[in-house]
Amino acid sequence: MERGLSRFALWTMAFLAVAIGLHALRFYFVPAGTFLQVDDGIRGVIERVPVQALAHMLIAPIALIVGPFQFFSSIRTKRPTLHRTLGKIYVAACTIAGLGALAAAPFASGGPIAGLGFATLAVLWIATTLGAWRAAVQRKFDLHRLLMRFSYAMTFGAVTLRLQIPFFMMMGYHTYPQASVWLAYTSWIPNVIVVALYAMWEALRRPTLVAAE
Ligand code: HEM
Repeated sequence: MERGLSRFALWTMAFLAVAIGLHALRFYFVPAGTFLQVDDGIRGVIERVPVQALAHMLIAPIALIVGPFQFFSSIRTKRPTLHRTLGKIYVAACTIAGLGALAAAPFASGGPIAGLGFATLAVLWIATTLGAWRAAVQRKFDLHRLLMRFSYAMTFGAVTLRLQIPFFMMMGYHTYPQASVWLAYTSWIPNVIVVALYAMWEALRRPTLVAAE
């Protein structure tokens, strides 16, 4: 059972993830030719590589929405079958959406520098997610937990990216493609650093086992 600050943080994360994930569902109208509030730069990406871009934009929100509930220890302990089922959905969604993102990255609306940031993110996203799944199958649960935290830190980049857009607009980047040269990095690197620092802090807090003579 989560308590205090961590429970608040988890619910905040879940709320933001579900809100951004539901907003992204407007892309489900795109195959029917309806572009609701879709930036012109993003529309250009979809028109150039529709299968890759839509594989990403339609599937990634599933990972974003499912992910937070995997971190609630109450669900993990009381409903282990649900945790495993949601875990498989999360891994499949990240893998398909990650491959779509990797294929769409060279066509990113922000150009090659933005594309490089998104491609790096896609490779790390797929690698940590599949690594976490493998660790669970091998019953290496410490490694599984760590890699899933890194994976979701990157998934949550979809939220931090959208939260950062107004700041970049205030700094004079007037369109999403202009800002995305930065956003392709600033959306996820801080999240990954936070997880790494948290992992180090946890490791330092863990009591050292002294072998009794
Ligand atoms: C974590 C790895 C991710 C990578 C590598 C990635 C990559 C990309 C790329 C390259 C684009 C095209 C952007 C451009 O042309 O500037 C894009 C757009 C988009 N991505 Fe992702 N993305 C990731 C995660 C997510 C997640 C978790 C979501 C869930 C909501 C998401 C939803 C979208 C949507 C809806 C778009 C269309 C543009 C928009 O509405 O902002 N992505 N992504």
